[in-house]
Amino acid sequence: MSLLIVDQSKCEKDEFCVRECPAAVIRISAGDGFPELVEGGDAGCIRCGHCVAVCPHGAMSHADVPIESSPEIREALEIGEAQAAQFLRSRRSVRVFKDKPVEKEKIRRLIEIARYAPTGGNSQMIEWVAITDKSRLKKIAGLTVDWVRQLAKDPNVVAAAPYLPMVVAAWDAGFDSVLRNAPAVVVACAAGGIMTGQTDLTIAMTYLDLMAPALGLGTCWAGLLQGALAASPPLKAAAGIPEGHPYHYPMMLGYNDIKYFRLPERKAPKILYL
Ligand SMILES: Cc1cc2nc3c(=O)[nH]c(=O)nc-3n(C[C@H](O)[C@H](O)[C@H](O)COP(=O)(O)O)c2cc1C
Repeated sequence: MSLLIVDQSKCEKDEFCVRECPAAVIRISAGDGFPELVEGGDAGCIRCGHCVAVCPHGAMSHADVPIESSPEIREALEIGEAQAAQFLRSRRSVRVFKDKPVEKEKIRRLIEIARYAPTGGNSQMIEWVAITDKSRLKKIAGLTVDWVRQLAKDPNVVAAAPYLPMVVAAWDAGFDSVLRNAPAVVVACAAGGIMTGQTDLTIAMTYLDLMAPALGLGTCWAGLLQGALAASPPLKAAAGIPEGHPYHYPMMLGYNDIKYFRLPERKAPKILYL
């Protein structure tokens, strides 16, 4: 069976699919004038579904991106510039969480959206680990502090990151400033050999980050844990990151116990127009 399934009763031969295809594997048939796959197109197709998305007539389906799983865009749900700007500017790093577990179902719904983030070559090779077990989270935070404690012995490191000794002091005083007592940590990871692995998972994590408030959840990028994960194979194992997965990023997740009322200012951008 061909990858492309063209409903000839709907196709108007307007060639949108041909012009759109990023892999240039669709052409117009010299015989009947309908779109068809070029020779070798099966291997070249990146399964992005643009041919399905771009057809105004619903005439194109794809064996791996079926039209039935590709819903129409609902114009009523589109947002304007002001809504988009406020939505993006109001995303905050949440560090105060309720002592309330995050339902696995909600984590699944977040990942369900994050999987639509773009990936290089449409590889879609990101994997996810969701840690909700309190004792495991505490162990992970403690191992991270062990790593910070070592780092903080180097004055050059402390000069560059003056908050590190505070992380250790807070932990020793009984406060977790690594994971902020978040009831969940989600880790996105990808296997070695995926050329755009770290970028892909960072974008996907950003999708998850942006989606979380709609489910009543807050997030915070766990940069300290990320540093420790990169340095410590036992910590990577404790965090459930599979072997052979050099790319990863963890994010704290939980119900906000805090609310924001303003959009804080940031540095003016440096832009070079050429
Ligand atoms: C890559 C990255 C790593 C971060 N790591 C941490 C972290 O380990 N702990 C923390 O409390 N905040 C962390 N943050 C949050 C930043 O401090 C925060 O984004 C910044 O202060 C701006 O605040 P906002 O996110 O609310 O706009 C991290 C953010 C990013 C993007």
